[in-house]
Amino acid sequence: MAELVLGPVVGGVHAHGAKLWGRADEQTMMYAWIGREPDLSDAQYVGATLLSADTGFAGVVSLSDLQPDTRYHYTLTLDETPPHPQSGPYPSFRTAPEEGDDQPIAFAFGSCFLPRRPEDDAIFTALDQRRLEEDLRFWLLLGDQIYADAWDANGLGRVALTADDYRAIYRHNWSRPALRHLLAHLPAYMIWDDHEVDDDWHWTNLDRLTADIPWWDKAIRWWHRRPREERHLSRKRVRAALQAYWEHQVLHAPPLLHPPEGADIQRPQILMGDEGHFGYTFTYGNAAFFVLDTRFHRVKAPEQRRLLNPAQWRALENWLLAMRDRFPFKFIVSSISLLSDSWADLARDRWNGFPDERRRLLHLIAAHRVPGLFILTGDLHAGHAIRAEIRTEDGERLTLWEFCASPFAQKINGLARYLWRAHAPWPVRRLQRLFVVDRPHFGVVRLTSEPQPGVSFTVYDAQNQPLHQVWVPHPMGGTESLLAEPEP
Ligand SMILES: [Fe+2]
Repeated sequence: MAELVLGPVVGGVHAHGAKLWGRADEQTMMYAWIGREPDLSDAQYVGATLLSADTGFAGVVSLSDLQPDTRYHYTLTLDETPPHPQSGPYPSFRTAPEEGDDQPIAFAFGSCFLPRRPEDDAIFTALDQRRLEEDLRFWLLLGDQIYADAWDANGLGRVALTADDYRAIYRHNWSRPALRHLLAHLPAYMIWDDHEVDDDWHWTNLDRLTADIPWWDKAIRWWHRRPREERHLSRKRVRAALQAYWEHQVLHAPPLLHPPEGADIQRPQILMGDEGHFGYTFTYGNAAFFVLDTRFHRVKAPEQRRLLNPAQWRALENWLLAMRDRFPFKFIVSSISLLSDSWADLARDRWNGFPDERRRLLHLIAAHRVPGLFILTGDLHAGHAIRAEIRTEDGERLTLWEFCASPFAQKINGLARYLWRAHAPWPVRRLQRLFVVDRPHFGVVRLTSEPQPGVSFTVYDAQNQPLHQVWVPHPMGGTESLLAEPEP
């Protein structure tokens, strides 16, 4: 008898639809039911999908024709029998408000989850409390949703090599009760970072024929007598990781801007010359989001370094122009930090390792004078709020904020506090870090329109206690008067 081993996950939420994702332990049909009553006594059958071995028995049912800003209860079943009301109450999600609706909303974000102890789940229990206390609308998981290379803690006992290895690690991480509960109750938007494949991985040529990991990872694995195939990153291994990433994180995402070849048959490929990537956009009320894929086309070759490919650059530029005046709040979601530099950064795995592209993005923001723009990021295993003052070509001042929340549960980077380097890449004039957080946490962003439009960013620890907060009044007309108050 088939069983749902992961999920349900609610993803791809918009004003009129959502995606319900699940993964079973063998081939089966998966049926989706929704209703307005918590016990689903009014359940309607809304679709089914076959969970087959091709996708590791994972699949998604897309919901459409839903009402905006409306709460729906739902369940996924593996047979055709409608849900029993006495088994309720069932989990629920709320659809997004219509585009342009300026009601206040709050959402959470964070990254990096490598559970080693049962108490590492506490961060998700805290986030669930927060959800109930203030009606969080969704959360963003900004990468390192698994640590495929952490052989001592990934549940597998080795570095992942095959698609089934990667799938096993997703199962290990995502079946943690508090995380599973949260994914069923709070709509999620996800993007990968490096550890979904391997630590700080990258291509070594523009054709993406060979990949690599840093020398120190190879040295550490050699020291620990890991077998040869775990000490380098074959293209085959990237393909295996990609397949599992597709199944667990992309199936329920909003539509991709430019899907890679093979996506339509659930087998994304890495083809020479294919510009496909995993970036996507979505809107939520009066906020617009561009979720960047900073990994799939990353190249570190002797003759060239590249973070984003031309297709994603074009999409990002078009999005900035299109959203500039249409949405008061704009978020660029990047798994890696744009504005953070450190005195001892050997890996240079962030935007700082791609200085030309970092300048290009900052220049783009300055040239188009995009107000109300925020960067959301993770990755650093230390959270922060950074304020950057950009000078436009007309001499105007524009403020760009970077909010970082990381990790949910992972080793803390205790040195981040001391090694921060306030490096201001042109056209940034001044850079200021408002706070740094060096314990597990998640971030909450609140958007308000009354009495004054603004954005706040608050960081909470695993006990749901606020640690720091900044408040940014929304810049009307392109410039900003700043009021940011770090709190103890
Ligand atoms: Fe991480």
